[in-house]
Amino acid sequence: MIRKIAILTSGGDAPGMNACLRACIRAGLYQGKEMYVVYDGLRGLVEGEIQQVNKDFTQDIINRGGTIIRSARLPEFKQDEVVAQAAEKLSDFEIDALIGIGGDGTFKGLQALSRHGVTVVGIPATIDNDVGSTDETIGFTTALNTICDCVDKLKDTSGSHQRCSLIEVMGRECGDLAMFAALAEGAEGVICIEHPLKEEVLFKKLRKMKAQNKSHAIIIVSENLLDINELASKIATETGFDTRTEVLGRLQRGGSPTAHDRILAARLGSRAIDILVKQPASRIVGVKNNEIVDYDINEAVEMKHRHTHGLRDLIDMLQ
Ligand code: F6P
Repeated sequence: MIRKIAILTSGGDAPGMNACLRACIRAGLYQGKEMYVVYDGLRGLVEGEIQQVNKDFTQDIINRGGTIIRSARLPEFKQDEVVAQAAEKLSDFEIDALIGIGGDGTFKGLQALSRHGVTVVGIPATIDNDVGSTDETIGFTTALNTICDCVDKLKDTSGSHQRCSLIEVMGRECGDLAMFAALAEGAEGVICIEHPLKEEVLFKKLRKMKAQNKSHAIIIVSENLLDINELASKIATETGFDTRTEVLGRLQRGGSPTAHDRILAARLGSRAIDILVKQPASRIVGVKNNEIVDYDINEAVEMKHRHTHGLRDLIDMLQ
C-alpha cells in the first residue's frame, strides 16, 4: 500500500502547476496519505530536497503562475547512476510513490525512475501542448490567452503605422501555440512545423493587401524555425510593408492560470492520486475527448502528438 507520496515539478514551468500541486496534495491528504514536495525538480530529487507538507502549504496558490516548489532542467538525468541516486533518496525518505508534473522530458525521467522500482505518475504540464498522451497540457490555454493579449495590443500600434508585424511564439517542436493563436487572432499568416513558410504565397498575399491599402498584417511564427528579422527585411523589400518583429519569449510562461487550466489541473491531479490509492502503478494521466484517461508509462512516452491538420485547413480557409 502507498502511504507516502512526493510531488515535483520539472522542465519549463507552466501556469497551473501550482493548481495541480494543490490538487494532488489535497486529494492525497483526503485519502489519508502523507504528502511531500520535492524542490527544484529532478535536480532537487537527486539532492534530497524533500519536505513533508500539510494543507496550509496549498493556501492561496491555485491562482499563482510559476511553481512554488520551483523547477529545473537536468540533462544528467539521462545517466543511470544519477537516476539510481534519485531512487535512493526516495527510499531514504521512505516515499512510496512520486508524482511528476511536467512535459515529455519529465516523463522520460519518471520512466527511468520506474525502471529502478519507483512507482511514478506523470501529469502533463507545459505551455507547448506537445505531449502525445493527452489532447491538452496544463498551461497551454493560459499561454495562448497571453499571446492573444499581446497580439491584440500589437494590432493597435501595427494598424496605426500600417505595418506588418511578425510575432514569434514558443513551442519548441510543436506549432499548437502558433496555430491556435493565428486562428484566435485571425492572423494573416502562420509559420510553424505543421504549416511551413511558402515565401511566394506569403509575399503575394501581402502585396495584394498593400495594394488594397489594408491597415496592417499579423504573421505568427513558431520559435526555432527561421530568423524572423531576416524574414522581416525580405517582406519589407518584396511587399513594401514597413515590417517589425516581436519575440514574446518567456512572458508566455508567466501569469495566473485560466479557470480552464485550474480545473484541468484539479481533474488530472485527483486522478493521479486515485491511481496511487486504488491500483498503484506507473502511469501517465491525460485528457482525451474531455475524459480523464491514464496509460502505462512505457506506452505513453511512445505516443506522438496528434498534429492538428483540421486546424490548419480552418486557418487557411479563414485567412
Ligand atoms: O517547454 C516549454 C518551453 O517554454 C519551450 O516553448 C521553449 O522552447 C523552452 O521551454 C525554453 O526553455 P528555457 O526557459 O529553459 O530556455
